[in-house]
Amino acid sequence: MKILIFNGAVRKNGDTAQLLQILTEQLQGHEIDTVYCDDKKISPCVDCRFCWKNPGCALKDGMQEVYRKIDNADWIILASPVHFDEISGSLMQVMSRLQMYCMARMMRKEELMQDRKRKGAAILAAGGPGKAEPAHRMMKVLLHTMHASDEVIIHCKGTDRKAVQENESIMDELKQLAERINQGD
Ligand SMILES: Cc1cc2nc3c(=O)[nH]c(=O)nc-3n(C[C@H](O)[C@H](O)[C@H](O)COP(=O)(O)O)c2cc1C
Repeated sequence: MKILIFNGAVRKNGDTAQLLQILTEQLQGHEIDTVYCDDKKISPCVDCRFCWKNPGCALKDGMQEVYRKIDNADWIILASPVHFDEISGSLMQVMSRLQMYCMARMMRKEELMQDRKRKGAAILAAGGPGKAEPAHRMMKVLLHTMHASDEVIIHCKGTDRKAVQENESIMDELKQLAERINQGD
């Protein structure tokens, strides 16, 4: 299986990174690619509107390869810390480049990526106990924009007080997700 992960965290070894590590350690025999959204290789969408009339995106940066990886992915996993109840700015900046898919559909009546079924999941790390409904909603919107289903949102709450590894129910949810992916679900 081809698994494409977007890590929206700024902290390299922070909670989001640790949750992803715990997940990927349990994945066996897959091709895993991780996009680090904060590494500045991908510009945010500049609304140049090239994609309103032309196929593809005019910005020739790291996102061109990521578009190919999205096309070929079996599973897409979006991971982010919760910032003000939303996903991180870094993840949102990279995801803004999905505008290319939206405009292909809306302006040029071209449906991209329908040839392949993708599954999707989201992982959120949050310091507090809040529901972070905007972040949940946004994760679903982004997965659907990539023609991926929203199979599960794993929301690790309370990271300010408890290490992610000590959160047993989250460890269980990560294990279940890894099992599903390993079984070729
Ligand atoms: C700017 C900022 C905003 C935050 N907003 C929220 C929030 O709205 N709700 C919440 O539960 N935690 C919030 N937090 C806490 C982070 O979500 C939490 O520390 C998270 O585990 C950090 O993950 P990371 O180590 O991968 O960056 C915020 C942290 C920062 C820096």
